[in-house]
Order: sequence, then structure tokens, then C-alpha cells
Amino acid sequence: MPTNLKNKDIISIKELTKTDILNILEKAQKLKQKPQPKLLSGYVLGSCFFEPSTRTRLSFETAMKKLGGSVIGFADPSITSTKKGESLYDSIKIIGQYVDVIAMRHPLEGSARRAAEATDKPIINGGDGANQHPTQTLLDLFTIKECQGKIEGLKIAIVGDLKYGRTTHSLAQALINFNARLYFVAPESLQMPEHICNELKAKKIIFSKHKNIEEIINEVDILYMTRIQGERFPDPMEYERIKNVYILKESMLNNVKKNMRILHPLPRVNEITADVDNTKHAYYFEQAENGLYIRQALLALTLGKL
Ligand code: CP
Repeated sequence: MPTNLKNKDIISIKELTKTDILNILEKAQKLKQKPQPKLLSGYVLGSCFFEPSTRTRLSFETAMKKLGGSVIGFADPSITSTKKGESLYDSIKIIGQYVDVIAMRHPLEGSARRAAEATDKPIINGGDGANQHPTQTLLDLFTIKECQGKIEGLKIAIVGDLKYGRTTHSLAQALINFNARLYFVAPESLQMPEHICNELKAKKIIFSKHKNIEEIINEVDILYMTRIQGERFPDPMEYERIKNVYILKESMLNNVKKNMRILHPLPRVNEITADVDNTKHAYYFEQAENGLYIRQALLALTLGKL
């Protein structure tokens, strides 16, 4: 039986069991097939984005509206009382008195957990610093299932900034549930954090570390590209040195598996050239659309309406 997610916070992917994850994916699939325009009528989403976002914020807001609910919030904390020095705790405590559920993004690791302490309303983490991005991972898993027909036992490469990329952390942790074979492709300085590698080892998940995409591209079912997270580098010169380390081009796809699919949480900068977009392997735009259905499912589940 999946956990009843009514009134639950969605802070870290690790807090969801495999049954929970599959339940969320199933509910999202139903919503994709059969829209429910009145399901959340009368409910209000607080959309609190303390850090820039296109997909996460707009898909949460669209998800709420497409389910018949409404949205208040902000995309820029400089127009809120944060600017006057109000603490995150106080802001969320107050916003929780106005709304039924809160989707939040914040640059600090642990901020979503702190927000959850401030209110009884469900907090859904839309990304906290370099830590976690659980809703991205749920839409990634949904997309993997959609394009491969299964999640279990796949060979999945995660490429790019595995140190600061929160989507890579949540995804690697979630894939523990699905017996994935993982390939981490990153410069040494941006490899997967040791604590996550230790979690994988403890669960006997096989993974290997690589420096070049070419070493693994013809073996994998999913090539998960990510952006180098310039905004999290303490040294801008280091970012300049490393920012174009991986650039996936169409010419690199000649010998890949027929059903290999390329995912990317987006936004991309230079790491996938536009000529890849028109190949059958590109699946990142479909992936972004799936965020809508996953976030609809999460809003409805945390509000106890599914
Ligand atoms: N994937 C993702 O989180 O995109 P945004 O930063 O645009 O929300």
C-alpha cells in the first residue's frame, strides 16, 4: 500500500518508497490521459520561488489551474518582505495561512525542510540549493517509463555537474529502487558526492565513474545530460574553465542503442547542440511536458483528492 500523501511534505525523494513513487507515476499517467478540470476547485497553491525557474514554477502553476484551483505567489523574492529582512520561517508561516499547499524553490540546502517546520500545509520542494529536486526526479522516472516501457534494470548515464546538480542527486537516489546500472560522467571535481555513492554501495547498486561521454554512450538506455551549475561555483574562473566540458552532438549518436533516449532536466546551455533535437533519441521536451502531470498528481495527492 502506498503512503497516504494527504498533508505530507515532499522534501526529499528518499522519503518516498518505491510503492509511493509508482503510485504517483500511475496517478500522473491517469491525469495525462484524462484531465480533471474541477478536481482542485476552491484550493489555492502558494507558488514561492526564491530562485529563478521556468519549468518548475510554470508547470506547478499550470497544474493547479488545470485542476480547477488558483495560484498566488512570487517568482522574485526581491518584491517580497524577504527584501526587508523577514525570515523564511516567518514568510512561510504567513503564506501557509493563506493557501492550501506550497510549492517552493530556494537557493539554500535544507530550506524546504525549514519551511515545512513553519506551516502545517504541505510543502513541495521545487529545488533547495544543490540538495534535492524530488518533483524533477518523479517526472524523470515517469519519462523513463514512458520512453523505455519500464524503469527496472536500465543502464542510465548521468552526465555533467553531479556535484552541484540537485536533479542528479535525487535521480541517483531514486534509481536505487529500480536496480539501475549507473554511469556517472563528470570531471573529477564535479563527480557524484561521496555520501550518495555510499548509499548506492550499501544498496548494491552498480555504478562506475567516467570522464568522457564516448566511453559509455553506446552502452546505455538513457543518457541524462545536465547543465554545469555556474551559479553554485564559488570561483567564477573555475566555471569558465569547465563550462563546456560536455557537448553532445548528433555525430556522437551513430552507434548508440536504437531505443536510447536523451533526457535533460533543462535549461540547457551548450551541452546539447540543436542538431540533436531532431533525432529520434531526443526526449527532453516531452520530459518537460510530463512535469505538468507529475505536479498535478502531487498537488492532488497532498491535498487528499486522489
Ligand atoms: N528543470 C528545472 O528545474 O527547470 P527550471 O529551473 O526552469 O524550473
